[in-house]
Amino acid sequence: MLLDTYGRVATDLRVSLTDRCNLRCTYCMPEEGLQWLTKPELLTDDEIVRLVRIAVTELGVTEVRFTGGEPLLRPGLTGIVARCAELAPRPRMSLTTNGIGLERTASALRDAGLDRVNVSLDTLDPEVFQRLTRRKRHADVLRGLAAARAAGLEPVKVNAVLMPGFNEQEAPDLLSWALEEGYELRFIEQMPLDAQHGWRREGMITAGDILESLRTRFELAPEEERERGSAPAERWLVDGGPQRVGVIASVTRPFCRACDRTRLTADGQVRTCLFATEESDLRGALRSGASDAEVAELWRKAMWGKKAGAGIDDPSFVQPRRPMSSIGG
Ligand code: GTP
Ligand code: 5AD
Ligand code: SF4
Repeated sequence: MLLDTYGRVATDLRVSLTDRCNLRCTYCMPEEGLQWLTKPELLTDDEIVRLVRIAVTELGVTEVRFTGGEPLLRPGLTGIVARCAELAPRPRMSLTTNGIGLERTASALRDAGLDRVNVSLDTLDPEVFQRLTRRKRHADVLRGLAAARAAGLEPVKVNAVLMPGFNEQEAPDLLSWALEEGYELRFIEQMPLDAQHGWRREGMITAGDILESLRTRFELAPEEERERGSAPAERWLVDGGPQRVGVIASVTRPFCRACDRTRLTADGQVRTCLFATEESDLRGALRSGASDAEVAELWRKAMWGKKAGAGIDDPSFVQPRRPMSSIGG
């Protein structure tokens, strides 16, 4: 079990498969991209499957989410999913993607054993999309979403970050669209995890702003507390339900007390939190011949050191050195 000193147990593993991405979202990375990890630095497919196996069979992990950068850029993705689906107990598996390429891969991923996907889409306007992501790929994302739904990778969730000067007015339109398409929409507060360190508390669109904007067109009733569990999204029933909308208010209403996550970066480091400032080197252990039991022990030790919370509002807060795209969200 992955227990920490606050009594939390991590059962949800997020595995970043690559730090690369084919978009350049302004709230994530600069136009020119970043210094990507090199091939020898990346875990191999075998190393990833081994670490997931250790997490599932020895450490009590029940949910595995593959992330990036953009995880569809990892050539071995479908194979990794298929091999993880054979583990006993079989973990539930999901993917967080920008949707580009999902049109081609959704049904193969479903066949390999993937259960569901979360797709990032911040706007319905192709021109705003191009300004926000610096790429002309809006239609690809919409096709990816439709393919995921058709392949039964459900519920299909859509993640949207609202940014001043880009899509700040779009919350109600995005929700109308998501309700019509049958996607579960969640709005995410922008977090200080961008590579350019451009995040400012004052400039951020808060959960309060988002709800106020949605309420101009919809009636929202809070979902019962017990349904939230350890999910980062707080959800509201829209116009009496059954459809819902979520808000992930990591800055103004953090859910750290109920956090059940552990993270593995594409270069094999365990992170106890999105905002952790230290990491534990599992890749080094694997490559120097550690046994499964030794790797499991290192992972347990790392989680024991997990901090109480993100601490964004602490005067001593410092943004982690590793940006969002290389942590995997
Ligand atoms: P579900 O299981 O479908 O609810 O997935 P999820 O919302 O946990 O995952 P997803 O990858 O879609 O992440 C959505 C947003 O939640 C991203 O901006 C993540 O960075 C954020 N998020 C995920 N886990 C954590 C966490 O442990 N702490 C914080 N602060 N944010 C998180
Ligand atoms: N703050 C909040 N969400 C972010 N994402 C990327 N960068 C940030 C940030 N700085 C979102 C992506 C994706 C999810 C994994 O995280 O849009 O939906
Ligand atoms: Fe790529 Fe996601 Fe970063 Fe956008 S937010 S550039 S899709 S990693």
